[in-house]
Amino acid sequence: MDEYIVAGGRRLSGVCTAQGSKNSSLPILAASLLADGETVLHNCPALSDVDATVKILAHLGCRTKREGHTLTVDPADAAGQEIPDGLMREMRSSVIFLGAVLARTGRVRLSTPGGCEIGLRPIDLHLDGIRKLGAQVTDAAGFIECSAPEGLRGARITLSFPSVGATENLMIAAATARGNTQIVNAAREPEISDLADFLNAMGARVSGAGEGTVLIEGVPALRRTEHTVIPDRIAAGTFLAAAAITGGSVELRGLIPAHLGPVIDVFEQTGCTVAVTSGSVRLRAPRRLRAVRTVRTMPYPGFPTDIQAPVTAALTLAGGTSVVIETIFESRFKYIGELVRFGAKIRADGRMAVVQGVDALYAANAVTPDLRGGAALTLAALAAEGESRISEIRHIRRGYEDFDGVLRGLGADIRTAGPESGGQ
Ligand code: UD1
Repeated sequence: MDEYIVAGGRRLSGVCTAQGSKNSSLPILAASLLADGETVLHNCPALSDVDATVKILAHLGCRTKREGHTLTVDPADAAGQEIPDGLMREMRSSVIFLGAVLARTGRVRLSTPGGCEIGLRPIDLHLDGIRKLGAQVTDAAGFIECSAPEGLRGARITLSFPSVGATENLMIAAATARGNTQIVNAAREPEISDLADFLNAMGARVSGAGEGTVLIEGVPALRRTEHTVIPDRIAAGTFLAAAAITGGSVELRGLIPAHLGPVIDVFEQTGCTVAVTSGSVRLRAPRRLRAVRTVRTMPYPGFPTDIQAPVTAALTLAGGTSVVIETIFESRFKYIGELVRFGAKIRADGRMAVVQGVDALYAANAVTPDLRGGAALTLAALAAEGESRISEIRHIRRGYEDFDGVLRGLGADIRTAGPESGGQ
């Protein structure tokens, strides 16, 4: 098993470029199943979650090719209707294929996603919406089967919570349904708008993405297209947190700063100086970060749950006490038990964590519990005096491309050790 070995205590400084968005790439790759020819997707990050998505596309019968950050998907021969349990387990978000496979073939069968590292992953909102679009849904013995032999038809769907995945699945399914669909209380994340842009480039008629009510006028067919994935706001926020926790100064280029609004806000509250241009954000940390009263995760445009862990790591070194409230996922504080090994003073109770800033963190060995938690532990190691080891970094590779390489480029002393790294 690979691990990071980190010699902490160096201030990060320099410039890095944002990777393409993981959370945009996955639904767009699923939607490429609906094209009448080859999709060319640029700025697609090299991540294990993207690899898992490509494996599913190949399993369904697509021909795929990667050249650098460009992925091509040809669904001409894709007739598959089932996603085996093994592939579903490799990536919980593979439920994003439900709408696309159903719309393409009239039937889909996949295993129930069950729980994952950050808690239960219910898909009731996906299934309720799919039913509204006219599909028959059976959910038994660990498998979900949906069928719509006569095709899907447009409907008005109100989500009880603005689920990102459900909004995406329903947009994809409704794109070629007969008639119009309205998704009320839709998620407003930038990745929703990116998916809408992709679908529209294929000839779909989607409007209102990013505004809470998404309208989809069904069209008979979608054509091949070429698209560039938006920058990854979560990875970007993580590198800003790395600059903050090490007292450094980092400029991130190639991103859309508006997507990081509430994150920049929190960093400013900690005393960081943040300079924003049209495509870059530079963060300069103060000698010591200040505590913030409350960080509360919320659906977009609120503070993203995916940046909660990296920011909490930074707050462990702030002067004063901060409160972090996680409202989106039930088990997103698992990393806190590991963060405490570095000398952080945090009490987590249910969905609330109280972070009492300490003067210094000390080297420790920590186990990565999940993707963002693993990033947070790595940041703690970067700030801690001495040599730390972070294990189970396969979680981190799901969402960060060359995480250690980018950090080394900013001056970090971090290397990968283990069988998969070839001993590097
Ligand atoms: C996506 C992101 C993930 C991010 C999350 C919230 C991808 C691949 N992943 O996940 O990184 O943290 O959005 O911004 O894009 N829920 C239900 N029933 C459902 C669906 C969701 O109760 O049918 C609940 C979930 O348990 C969770 C909340 O809604 O508590 C948010 O989930 P959702 O927005 O669906 O997140 P994902 O799409 O899974």
